[in-house]
Formats: sequence, C-alpha cells, structure tokens
Amino acid sequence: MTATGASLGYLLASVCFIVALKGLSSPKSARLGNAIGAAGALVAVVVVSLVARPDRLALILLAILVGGAIGVIAAERVRMTAMPQMVALFNGVGGAAGALVALLELAETGGRGDVDQLAVAAFTVLIGSVTFSGSVLTFAKLQELVTGRPLIFPGMRPVAALAVAGALAAGILVPIGTPLVVVVLLAFVSLGLGLLLVLPVGGADVPIVISLLNAFSGITVTASGYVLGNVLMIVAGTLVGASGMLLTKLMANAMGRSLVNIMFGAFAGPSTLGSTVETDRPVRSAGPADIAILLGYARKVIVAPGYGLAVAQAQHTLRDLTDELERRGVTVEYAIHPVAGRMPGHMNVLLAEADVPYHKLKEMSVINPEFRTADVALVVGANDVVNPAAHTTPGSPIYGMPILAAEDAAAIVFLKRSLRPGFAGIDNELLHGPKTTLLFGDAKDSLANLVAAVKAL
Ligand code: TAP
Repeated sequence: MTATGASLGYLLASVCFIVALKGLSSPKSARLGNAIGAAGALVAVVVVSLVARPDRLALILLAILVGGAIGVIAAERVRMTAMPQMVALFNGVGGAAGALVALLELAETGGRGDVDQLAVAAFTVLIGSVTFSGSVLTFAKLQELVTGRPLIFPGMRPVAALAVAGALAAGILVPIGTPLVVVVLLAFVSLGLGLLLVLPVGGADVPIVISLLNAFSGITVTASGYVLGNVLMIVAGTLVGASGMLLTKLMANAMGRSLVNIMFGAFAGPSTLGSTVETDRPVRSAGPADIAILLGYARKVIVAPGYGLAVAQAQHTLRDLTDELERRGVTVEYAIHPVAGRMPGHMNVLLAEADVPYHKLKEMSVINPEFRTADVALVVGANDVVNPAAHTTPGSPIYGMPILAAEDAAAIVFLKRSLRPGFAGIDNELLHGPKTTLLFGDAKDSLANLVAAVKAL
C-alpha cells in the first residue's frame, strides 16, 4: 500500500471514530455511531496490517476473525447488568496489548535508541501494566470473585509508596540505557501498582474506576502509537483517553465524590461499602390490588427506575403498566438519575429498548421539582438513588450524592424483593416513611400483577 493510501485510510478511520463518539452522545444515534466506530476500527486494522506487515496478512486476517468472533459472542451473551465487567476486561486487554508492544520494541532494539522514544516506551509498559492488573481485579470485584469491599492490609501505604518509587526509578533507568531485566522489573512493579490502586476501592466506586482504567487504556494506546510511530494509534488512543477522563469526572460529580477521594479514601478512612444485611425495622406493604388503586386513580405518577429493573428485565412490563395508566388519563414521567443502574446511561438504554418515548425520560434536575406535584413516585428496583441519607447523614457512603426527590411525592411505592439495601449497602429511611408502601417481589412479576390489577379497576 502506498503512503498516500495509508494516510487516507488513517484519516477515514479517525473521522469514523470522531463521528462515532458524536453518535454515542444520543440514544437516537447511538446504534449508528457504534456501527460507524466498528467500521473505523476495521479500516484501521486492515490499513495498519497492509502498511506494517503485508507479508503476514493471512495471519493478521485470521487474528481479526478470531478476535472478532470472540467479541461478537461476548457481546451477544453478556447480560446488560454484566456490561461493566465486560468493559473492564476489554480495558485490561487494551492495556496488556500496549505494554507488550512496548516491551517487544525495547527487546528488539536492545534498549538502545532516542531518549524520548525509550522514555515513552517505559511509560507505556508502566501504564499498560497498571491498566491490565487493575482491570482484572476490577472485573473480579464486579463479578464477585473477590469481595466488593475496599481491601486494605497493614503497611499498605508504605508498600504502595515503595512500588511508586520503584516504578519511577525503573522508568528513569530505561531511557538512559539499562538491561532488559529492568524493563521486565518495571512491568512487574507496575502490575503490583495496578492491584494496589484498585484494592482499596469499594462498592459504588468500582464502576468509576472502570471508566478511569478505560482512560488509562487510551493513554496506553497513544503512548504505543508514539513508540511505533503510528499516527492512527495516537489519534484513537487520545480519543479514548480524553473521553474516558471526561466520563470519569462526570460519574464522580454525579455521585458527589472527588476522584482523589474515590482512589485514596479507603487509605485514610472508613469503608465505602456498607452492609448487605436486611433491616428488621417495620415497613408498610400492600398487594397489587391496593397499589393499582393508588396508581390508577392518580393524576400524575413519576417512575424512578433503578438497577433492579435491569436485573428483572422488566422494562417491557413497565412500559405495559405506564401505557395502561396513560389510557386511564394518568400523566406518567420517568425520573432518570445519572448513576441509576451500574453504568452511565443504563436506564436510558433499558427504557429505549422498551420504546419508551425519549421525551418522557427526564433528567434529575428537570424532574426533581415535579415530584412535589406527583401523586405517586413509583420506585422500581431502585434504592440508593432515592435515599435521603445523601442529604441527611454525613459520613454515609452516598453523602453529598444528588438524589431523586421521590420523598416529595404524595405517596411513594417501592417495588423490590426484600429489605436488603442497595449497592452502597446502607439503610434507606424512605422505606420506613409514613407515605411509603412496599410491593414485595421480583419487579417483572410485580409489574405484571399491577398491569392486570389496573386493567381490572
Ligand atoms: P441500588 O441502590 O443498587 O438498588 C437496587 C435495588 O433493586 C435493590 O434495593 C434491590 O432490592 C432491588 N432489586 C434487585 N433485583 C431486583 C428484582 N429482580 N426485582 C425487584 N427489585 C430488585 O440501585 P440504584 O438505586 O439504581 O442505584 C445505583 C447504585 O449503583 C448507586 O449506589 C450508584 O452510586 C451505583 N453506581 C452506579 C453507577 C452508574 S454510572 N450507573 C456508577 C457507579 C456506581 P432487593 O434485593 O430487595 O430486591
């Protein structure tokens, strides 16, 4: 392939990535954006292969086929609620690939070359290894293979300081020409650093760390692009790094937390994850027939969906219920908290799947004043995002997090299976409030019962 052909290919792929990001910013265009991004990735891989190793094209095409097949099968099989784990694994693979590229480059050149090239290669090994081990541990935490609680051991702070100093020292030694063993040492210390970075992070903060590691994987790709002299990798890596950093900041803001507090809070203070034990304090519960009367004769109902809606896959049944209510003249709106569920946009995606009109999904700042005028706040599989402890309980893991003002509605109905707390592991005073009624059961079953009961009114 000619140099001009390659440059045009790179340009086309870069434009695809940028258009894809723009498309992903709205649910309406997200599907198309995703497809354009995938096409850009395919163009990128083919052009790079043609430029770099035309003699190995068959092998590279085979690798694309195997990788593509694994990606398609994983994407088909993964449950919506397990998406963060999958993203964590993909980040890890990106980090590992970048670190391996830099390691191989250093091995090939025998650690000789321009100081700036060697410095970037050392940095790539460091950040790529941190991303890999950090992502694998994040995956294990989310998959509950290890506890989701912050893990701290005695002497963790000095060990972490030593690891940082070791990685920095090795990172400085590589550019001034040292044996390959120092590079390998750098990789191992960095793998340890990745673990030390994620071990103290717990509970609700783990998904934010995924986003941070996603940004790290982008930075790794940018640095590898510099090592290999590949412009496209620099462009693609920078896009991932920058968007990952912005997303991390947005998620942290939505939870009222600072990134420093998320990453290092457990070193200094108490756990960010509470208990998972059910409370034994009394609550008021009712059956579907009673709740149907409350909903069917209301003027306005605001639905606050959460993670449990995704677990129960009850979005279509929820849509059936709201359709039925609207047929009766009830105004229905959806209150979307930015961190409801387990990943950004989780609720929007779920409700879009059930064809809920997008204009009915109201952002927190828009819907909160409206709860005062609602007859019922219907909380479906949500907990933390309506927990008033965010305002009332300093020291609580969610203190400072903006919440949906469900408590302002004339009546509050919770659909959940038990009195277990939400992801943050803390009691929710609203469950015990005088205006609150619980309908126990799996959200899908409860909603189906409610549809039948409203129809029978
Ligand atoms: P949670 O606070 O985790 O509450 C979910 C509720 O759903 C639980 O109380 C659970 O109670 C119920 N539930 C689970 N399965 C159910 C089922 N099959 N049927 C009915 N109910 C079911 O969820 P939330 O209110 O959406 O809050 C999100 C949490 O995730 C927050 O702590 C947030 O900070 C964290 N987080 C989210 C993000 C993003 S970006 N979305 C990022 C980081 C952290 P039962 O077990 O009693 O049924």
